[in-house]
Amino acid sequence: MHRATGLFSLVFGAALATGALAADARKGETLAKRWCAACHVVAADQQVGTTQSPAFSTIARKPDFTEAMLALFLLNPHPRMPDMNLSRSEAADLAAYINTQK
Ligand code: HEC
Repeated sequence: MHRATGLFSLVFGAALATGALAADARKGETLAKRWCAACHVVAADQQVGTTQSPAFSTIARKPDFTEAMLALFLLNPHPRMPDMNLSRSEAADLAAYINTQK
């Protein structure tokens, strides 16, 4: 029980901190092309990603998508994705960039 509460405040605190940063979508684009393009289609002019990974435009168009949630999500590596050790500001920049791919 206490663990769960602790985790909640940790996640909530991270959300607040992420929101406070001025995210930079152009930095996010550079990061995406360097770290994510091997698997994801990260830009409209990119031809191939891998078939298992959703395109960033698909991610951005999901009904429950928000930039803040995505920035949080990116702080933990997702299954089948290598741990990129993204900093909070890098995660926020990537989220801002993905948000432009709608
Ligand atoms: C080694 C391949 C690989 C790399 C590199 C990679 N991803 Fe992924 N990513 C995947 C796969 C595969 C999935 C689908 C996850 C699943 O179905 O388990 C995914 C899912 C996601 C999702 C969730 C989409 C959803 O449906 O909720 C996001 C967001 C995402 N990736 C962002 C990124 C970002 C940002 C980067 C670069 C920092 C990145 N990924 C790098 C393979 C990768």
